Amino acid sequence: MRYAVGFMIHRAVVFGAAGQLGVELVRELRARGYGVTGWDRSQVDITDAQAVEKALAQYDAEVVFNAAAYNQVDVAEQEPQAAFLVNGLAVRNLALACRQVDARLVHFSTDYVFDGQARHPYAEDDLPHPLGAYAVSKLAGELYAQAYLDRVLVVRTSGVFGPGGLANARGNFVEVMLRLAASKNPIRVVEDHVASPTFAPLLASRTIDLVERDQTGLFHVGGGSPVSWFQFARLIFETTGLQPLLLATNEREYRTAARRPKYSALSNAKMERVGIDPMPPLKAALESYFSERKKRLGA
Ligand SMILES: NC(=O)c1ccc[n+]([C@@H]2O[C@H](COP(=O)([O-])OP(=O)(O)OC[C@H]3O[C@@H](n4cnc5c(N)ncnc54)[C@H](OP(=O)(O)O)[C@@H]3O)[C@@H](O)[C@H]2O)c1
Repeated sequence: MRYAVGFMIHRAVVFGAAGQLGVELVRELRARGYGVTGWDRSQVDITDAQAVEKALAQYDAEVVFNAAAYNQVDVAEQEPQAAFLVNGLAVRNLALACRQVDARLVHFSTDYVFDGQARHPYAEDDLPHPLGAYAVSKLAGELYAQAYLDRVLVVRTSGVFGPGGLANARGNFVEVMLRLAASKNPIRVVEDHVASPTFAPLLASRTIDLVERDQTGLFHVGGGSPVSWFQFARLIFETTGLQPLLLATNEREYRTAARRPKYSALSNAKMERVGIDPMPPLKAALESYFSERKKRLGA
């Protein structure tokens, strides 16, 4: 058990514990000596209000982390209800259940709540303007969390990649790049969309730092610096030593079902102002990713 600077955690629970962020939250909470229980979707489906209520009633937790999400940005345009159920209404289930047991909710959202018109990394007081079904559903989740709870922590992040992505077919951007490199075909990546790719273990630890400092409200926690997806791909191949044919493209040539913000880098200034360590450079995060990957795959 750890006696934190401002908020004492004896027990925490993590919903969506099998996702990229969920596995890291469970790992980091345990590493810090907290009691923690993680539930994946097969154990507790957060769209089932009764199951959420029952799970929380049985487990006396001070903090509830919601790492569960529907993240298929393009598919959501065909099935907006499915996205809304998980990212919007299920957050209401969690918020109501947290209120009943007086637990602090920590919820995660996305840089895609913005429309990408800004030319500075987005701060917490910039106005959201989502461009598609996924983004609307995530903004709805933020609003539900804030509607039912006075003290809730909402963390917006961007382009998450973590070793947890090795365990599922969707993977993450890094794994997609490695798969494409293995196929030996030219790889085209957009250079006109900029984000803040974020390493899941760092996202987990910075979030827990915020909880320990008794922070609530809205915080941005993005990777070290704004990069285009093309630059990120180039950095991935530089780090691995792979040399596929990597070509820059743009949103006009590479159409997707969902509109995305062209610029969605996040500013971590608020997080840093409350005394949390800055994020390391993206290159360092990628090196950690690959060393962890090697350990997990034994290759
Ligand atoms: N991934 C990104 O690039 C990105 C970017 C910005 C923000 N975010 C946000 O960051 C947070 C963490 O994302 P992540 O990358 O860790 O996502 P992830 O790897 O896709 O993990 C999400 C987890 O939620 C689970 N889940 C889905 N529906 C559920 C339900 N109804 N009940 C319980 N669990 C459910 C998924 O299970 P299944 O595998 O069975 O579906 C999966 O294990 C999310 O809030 C996400 O919206 C992510």
